[in-house]
Amino acid sequence: MQTALILAAGRSRRMMTRRAKVVHQVGGRPMIQHVVNAARAAGLSRVLVVVGHRAEDVQAVLGDGVEYVLQEEQRGTGHAVLQAAAQLAGQEHVLVLNGDTPLLTADALASLVEAHLARGQAATLMTTRVPDPTGYGRIQRDGAGNIARIVEEADADEETRRINEINTGIGCYRVEPLMAALGRVAPDNRQGEYYLVDVVPLMLAAGQQVGTCTVDDYRQFLNVNDRRALAAAEAAMRERVLDRLMAAGVTVVDPANTYVDDTVTVGMDTVILPFSIIKGDTVIGADCIVGPGAVIENSHLEDGCRVEQSTVRDSRLGAGSRVGPYSHLRPGTDLAPGVKVGNFAEIKNSTIGTGSKVSHHSYIGDSRIGRDVNIGAGAVTVNYDGYRKHETIIGDEAFVGCNVNIIAPVEIAPDSYVAAGSTINQDVPSDALAIARARQENKPGWVSRRRQKMEKAEGAGSR
Ligand code: UD1
Ligand code: CA
Repeated sequence: MQTALILAAGRSRRMMTRRAKVVHQVGGRPMIQHVVNAARAAGLSRVLVVVGHRAEDVQAVLGDGVEYVLQEEQRGTGHAVLQAAAQLAGQEHVLVLNGDTPLLTADALASLVEAHLARGQAATLMTTRVPDPTGYGRIQRDGAGNIARIVEEADADEETRRINEINTGIGCYRVEPLMAALGRVAPDNRQGEYYLVDVVPLMLAAGQQVGTCTVDDYRQFLNVNDRRALAAAEAAMRERVLDRLMAAGVTVVDPANTYVDDTVTVGMDTVILPFSIIKGDTVIGADCIVGPGAVIENSHLEDGCRVEQSTVRDSRLGAGSRVGPYSHLRPGTDLAPGVKVGNFAEIKNSTIGTGSKVSHHSYIGDSRIGRDVNIGAGAVTVNYDGYRKHETIIGDEAFVGCNVNIIAPVEIAPDSYVAAGSTINQDVPSDALAIARARQENKPGWVSRRRQKMEKAEGAGSR
């Protein structure tokens, strides 16, 4: 079996969203991407996706990696599958999935496919038992324990609602009997929809075999219909990601307060402290200490870095770099190994060479800074003239004193020295001291002269 058909055309009313429901993210990936990934990992090489409501959202996240089937009007899951008749012609079997089941595992899919092929039945449906079956289709069995039909929540009576074996929405079918049965499904139910689940009694009546494959781990079939379920899926995914990291030798000090996307990789012996949020396309090396309170997105930290209570986006940190507390690395920051960025610094679109230090209260923008440079407290690059951004170049081993304004474009040559409080708007040559500030003047005796003057004036006033 090679073809998976994922249903993702629904209107998602319960989600209360302007976007397609299945593009909402769980663990940093769109829900439907998890479903596609699981299908591929289970060996399904051809993936068809039924799109309709907000089709463009789904196509934007999945791109050219899958084939699309258009369901112009959303008339139910059975109607959705029927739209794929042409693409499925010639295939013997198909695995049908819903796009809103982001936690499902490739292992469960692979075992379903195996059971279906081994048994040679017309349909094999994946079921599970849940503590709270609200919202799911209930599995009704006959006296012999075989599946008889699936009853949707809206159509179920009290007794049926108490059944806790549910339809996961995932099933393997032989294409021919499936399409034949779908052609006979009628929308005679509370929702007036063509239900995929209604093929079960039709197939049975036609003398075809329908079986089930029941999986114990019900949590992976969580069906995201609304925002509460979205939060529950997020929590479950978070737990799964942290378990994977811990199994690979990462210390997660407090898993209940640590948020790591499924897209992130972390090296051995790295410690993640509480209240850290690690997102997107991020790679963290070994022996790092991240947090507490670090926000890291789409960034690469080499081994042995430390990021404490800081935000790092679209940046690179060389081995052994340190950032924080309370700093902000904005997109395009590239720190060489052993760089130190201290507190209250902001850096964007800048490279900083090995061993250089930006220790306190600085803004560095659009700069190329060499190795072993010291940027003093409060020194800032003045990179924006209200129209354009300009570049600052600072050579190896230069020393920039405290509270220096560096008005770009300007170049401070290697091994030069800029005096504290200077406003630099001309290049500084190598080996020179640049000093650009008003000269200090001391007025001897000024304090006591002033005191006498003031006291005299006060005495005159009180008389
Ligand atoms: C469905 C099942 C239910 C099962 C549950 C498991 C049916 C009738 N019900 O219910 O038995 O317990 O999933 O998660 O199948 N879709 C379309 N076109 C449509 C309607 C829906 O593509 O016209 C897609 C949706 O985008 C969604 C999926 O089909 O990805 C399931 O639809 P949804 O409305 O969420 O079905 P449930 O009520 O959850
Ligand atoms: Ca659903």
